[in-house]
Amino acid sequence: MENIVIIDCGSQFTQLIARRVRELHIHSVVLSWDAPRSRIAELAPLGVIVSGGPDSVNEPGAIAVDRGLFDLGVPILGICYGMQLMTKVRGGTVASGERPEYGVTPIERRGESALFKDLADNLEVLMSHGDRVAAVPPGFRVTAETAHGVIAAMEDEEGRCFGLQFHPEVVHTQQGTRILRQFLFEVCGCRGDWNLGDWIEDAVADIRERVGDGRVVCGLSGGVDSSVAAALVHRAIGPQLECIFVDHGLMRLNEACQVMDSYNGLGLSVRHVDASELFLGKLAGVTDPEKKRRIIGGLFIEVFDAEAAKVGRVDWLLQGTIYPDVIESGSKKGSVLIKSHHNVGGLPEKMKLRLLEPLRDLFKDEVRELGRLIGVPDAIVNRQPFPGPGLAVRCLGEITRPRLDTLRAADAIFREELQRAGLYEKIWQSFCVLLPVRTVGVMGDGRTYNEVLALRAVNSQDAMTADWVRIPPEVLDVTARRICNEVRGINRVVLDVTSKPPATIEWE
Ligand code: XMP
Repeated sequence: MENIVIIDCGSQFTQLIARRVRELHIHSVVLSWDAPRSRIAELAPLGVIVSGGPDSVNEPGAIAVDRGLFDLGVPILGICYGMQLMTKVRGGTVASGERPEYGVTPIERRGESALFKDLADNLEVLMSHGDRVAAVPPGFRVTAETAHGVIAAMEDEEGRCFGLQFHPEVVHTQQGTRILRQFLFEVCGCRGDWNLGDWIEDAVADIRERVGDGRVVCGLSGGVDSSVAAALVHRAIGPQLECIFVDHGLMRLNEACQVMDSYNGLGLSVRHVDASELFLGKLAGVTDPEKKRRIIGGLFIEVFDAEAAKVGRVDWLLQGTIYPDVIESGSKKGSVLIKSHHNVGGLPEKMKLRLLEPLRDLFKDEVRELGRLIGVPDAIVNRQPFPGPGLAVRCLGEITRPRLDTLRAADAIFREELQRAGLYEKIWQSFCVLLPVRTVGVMGDGRTYNEVLALRAVNSQDAMTADWVRIPPEVLDVTARRICNEVRGINRVVLDVTSKPPATIEWE
């Protein structure tokens, strides 16, 4: 199998490079910066990409790759810090602290380059660097520069070693994928005959080897990530996997049943724990959003733990962590995205379990694609993200069964109308929020004094930022009419037209 090795020097974009390589149907292995030459050679790569990183090559103790990497005889592409490392090892100079550039910057090409073949002379690229190459190593030439004379690209005379000061892997770089494609296909000679199906085979083999005859427990939330992770592990180890679905009574209309049906269809062994009485009991009278979240998080762990204890011997906890979560957990405290599997946070230590996270290198859309390939039903694969605390954070004020039922009924209508308009699956998240505010209305000949419902629909790439969706007025119109007519307890519908920031996606 053709292989590309990606050396990770600590950049947040390393997995994005891996993703781009996967998109071009080429297998890659990400190795840490300290991987010895022998480990890299063992993989017989057709090429090596050295990622960016936060260090400065001129600082003592900065990350340094095995210099032997540069004698492997395979093409090498150094990106940002990778380019600076290449410069230093090959005898060029790197300047620190002068002319840093962050953001989209125009560059101009100089001379011919296999990487830029058939591309325009001027490109906009994403720069994010403090250091820069001041003098290219002997035998190298500059192939692109910024308006300020910063060397944006270089390569050696043999056309085997390339350095890019910018990030071809991010969408903000014009023709970035094309540049990577040129390196991988034209320079390294890849054919591109790998696909996600091969990824599945590798993952299954890896899970089998790691888990051996161990037993795995998994908390299912009905969401895409945990479901696909479970389906994948089930494919690898079948009955050694035991799943637990804690039903907190805060799901959308009929969702708990649908989710269980899907799991049964997949052949998963799932313990459905109906803990709704417990959750709703503890939430009675609670209106503070943080208190609601704390109660739900705490109870979830308690219930999951108690159920897992019934499974018998367990060695591993399976989690549907995906790459954006990995980036997030490294990010500062206070980050807003808390995925459902984080609801079992603290469990691995408490239960002395090892963590199995087979999806941790993948992005959401890849997880969806993988799910489809392994037969996870569309109802789950296409499911919108749903917060761990469920409708509790969409039922503002006190959470009671009647208010939850009202919210569920309205939410089902909103979803139905979006589906009818062919919009539901194009939207990142759409839902209703029940407000603890009463307003006066008139229905028939009578005065009403009922609660207000807000419609919320947002589009997003990663939930870190989001834009409100411009739903056509006729769809909003029919939704609002139907909700007021069909759902008891609501006489006014409003639309949330705030993006994130300044608002968050959920209201609590
Ligand atoms: P916010 O409201 O912070 O939400 O903009 C960002 C994304 O995270 C989801 N969310 C959660 N998911 N547990 C989760 O599993 C939670 O406690 C939680 N809170 C918010 C939210 O639906 C959106 O996709």
